[in-house]
Amino acid sequence: MRSTYSAAAVLVSALQLVSAQTFTDCNPTAKTCPADPGLGTTLTTDFTQGKSSDWTLADGTTMSYDGSKGAVFSIAVGTDAPTISSAKYIMFGKVSVTMEAAPGVGIVSSFILESDDLDEIDWEWLGGTDTSVESNFFGKGNTTTYNRAVYHPVAQAISAVHTYTIDWTAQSIIWSIDGNTVRTLAYADPLALGGANYPQTPMKIKMGNWIGCLDAAAASNPATAGTCSWAGGPIDLTKGPFDMYVKSVTIQDYGCGGDYTYSDTSGSYQSIKSSGTCGSNNNSGSSSSASAASSVSSSATASSSAGSSSATTSASKSASTSSGAVLVQTSASNATTTGSSSGGNGTTLATTPTPTGTGSASGTASGAAAKSTAGSSAATGLKPKHSYGVLDFAVIALGLGLGYLVM
Ligand SMILES: *[C@@H]1O[C@H](CO)[C@@H](O)[C@H](O)[C@H]1NC(C)=O
Ligand SMILES: *[C@@H]1O[C@H](CO)[C@@H](O)[C@H](O)[C@H]1NC(C)=O
Ligand SMILES: *[C@@H]1O[C@H](CO)[C@@H](O)[C@H](O)[C@H]1NC(C)=O
Ligand SMILES: *[C@@H]1O[C@H](CO)[C@@H](O)[C@H](O)[C@H]1NC(C)=O
Repeated sequence: MRSTYSAAAVLVSALQLVSAQTFTDCNPTAKTCPADPGLGTTLTTDFTQGKSSDWTLADGTTMSYDGSKGAVFSIAVGTDAPTISSAKYIMFGKVSVTMEAAPGVGIVSSFILESDDLDEIDWEWLGGTDTSVESNFFGKGNTTTYNRAVYHPVAQAISAVHTYTIDWTAQSIIWSIDGNTVRTLAYADPLALGGANYPQTPMKIKMGNWIGCLDAAAASNPATAGTCSWAGGPIDLTKGPFDMYVKSVTIQDYGCGGDYTYSDTSGSYQSIKSSGTCGSNNNSGSSSSASAASSVSSSATASSSAGSSSATTSASKSASTSSGAVLVQTSASNATTTGSSSGGNGTTLATTPTPTGTGSASGTASGAAAKSTAGSSAATGLKPKHSYGVLDFAVIALGLGLGYLVM
């Protein structure tokens, strides 16, 4: 479908690019898909030097490059959703991004790893919050519950450059900020359903800046109200542009490169085959000193002794603790604690809000969102409601915007 209205056309492409983050062209757990080209080595991109052919710009994305700040992901109008993804995949690995998240209520900066079968590992920043960053993960696109997000205190989360790392192995996922571990998720953690929903298939790296809450209409629509609340309320575009800067990215593939293929439909890491030949870079057996236990550090300056924090959880909100952590109340409901993987003082597993009116998001999203969602889902052979991932809300928001525009 093509529109003669240029604004609508831009929105269509914005919708497609956000869909591309959330939906998969081909889900290998449902059918046979093309192999994933593996990186098989360590790649560093210095965006202060300009554009890089190692990255693919999503449709509708225009990037500029700043000689000191790096790639500029700019949101100036409601249809902007600049997004790039790595051309190649990693099969376990370590990714570090040195970046400055975008300011602005309603804005969300994302740095995620995502696979063809919708395993996902996230860092996300809310533009209205300068004191925390969110870590999250999804297994096989399962959004039955939203109890996996953790908000980590970090000074100047959106007004200063930090290095955010995801170290991903078969044993654990370790999130760290400026070299300090803040969260460890073990493969067998109950939150990962004992491994069944642990991210474990070849991942692309995706980075983007997007609007989590477009306007008052999105805030009052039951399908997007929860996301709007999470994003801090509607964006005020008159205060833009809202820029996220990525200075550099280092991607280390622990796998052997070549092609990564799913040898069956299980989506298990054991089913992934590599055609690469490992040389000195074969780190696929390393466990990165992973502990068997999951943990959340109570302080951004904690050492990386994973598993050392106590199981103490605090029910209080927005209170500084002796260890300097700040609890972040981010959803309409009170933050929840989970004994199995919550950690030390002052950090709480928080619930990312499901869209208000749980279960009706795909059914009630009016206009293009619902159609587009259903269309994409049908095209990939997924059940319509199955593929809601962490960025799905942007699809809904953009789709609603498109709906209004077309109307
Ligand atoms: C999805 O997650 C829910 C709750 O975490 C779990 O009960 C369910 O079995 C999961 N579904 C699949 C297909 O893994
Ligand atoms: C890579 O190393 C692991 C662990 O040492 C080993 O099991 C695996 O066979 C190696 N892969 C290749 C392709 O050499
Ligand atoms: C949150 O906690 C406060 C007090 O701890 C309580 O009064 C309030 O009802 C709770 N809100 C929700 C949504 O559970
Ligand atoms: C939590 O705080 C108490 C009191 O300050 C301290 O004894 C304990 O070691 C802390 N636990 C963690 C995991 O930081």
